[in-house]
Amino acid sequence: MNQDELKHLVGRAAANYVLSNVAHGAVLGVGTGSTANFFIDEIAVHKDRFRGAVSSSVASTERLRNHGFEILELNDVETLPVYVDGADEIDAQGHMIKGGGGALTREKIVAAVAQTFVCIVDQSKRVEQLGKFPLPVEVIPMASSAIARRLVAMDGEPKLRKAKDGSTFITDNGNWILDVQSLRIDDPVALEAEINNWPGVVTSGLFALRGANICLLGTPDGVDRVDY
Ligand code: 5RP
Repeated sequence: MNQDELKHLVGRAAANYVLSNVAHGAVLGVGTGSTANFFIDEIAVHKDRFRGAVSSSVASTERLRNHGFEILELNDVETLPVYVDGADEIDAQGHMIKGGGGALTREKIVAAVAQTFVCIVDQSKRVEQLGKFPLPVEVIPMASSAIARRLVAMDGEPKLRKAKDGSTFITDNGNWILDVQSLRIDDPVALEAEINNWPGVVTSGLFALRGANICLLGTPDGVDRVDY
């Protein structure tokens, strides 16, 4: 199976998880990226079972709307039973790096409100130690150089993310992203807390303070479920 087929497999497994574990009339938290897209396409067939969805990006909102899903504002929802999203890396504790698609801040906000974070990944995303994938850090544009200097002082190699046309990548929130290579992430919880505390950082792509509760891991032999 290729990577896309594995992503499709876990997208379908997540839809089955939601159908078996989430009450009728609930609101779903929905992530962003190619794996999340498979989940959206699979769960959309059952959209009438749900009150709607809170989405973590403009792109996912558009995809959900095209399927006829009702989109709710997070401000109108007190709690979400489940948040389903992909990741760029996940370790044995359910700590993740996210934000390869640039939606890290809204993803973290929606995930924080959800009771259960279901991470859906193909097996290439499972790592022993986080950090091979460059850590995305969303920053207020005026702070980007100051934040980059702090990351360099930690032996990181930050690069301002570019869009496909070569212009600076702008997040859904109007900010910039630094992708940081070569960071040593020995303690993901401590590093997330530290970086998030720097003035000008909107959030880092470390999802360790609130990691995944369940990982559905796509392998050629099927989907492995890991609970944390
Ligand atoms: C977007 C994300 C994605 O979940 C992450 O980049 C994984 O993407 P994909 O499922 O396309 O591999 O965090 O901001």
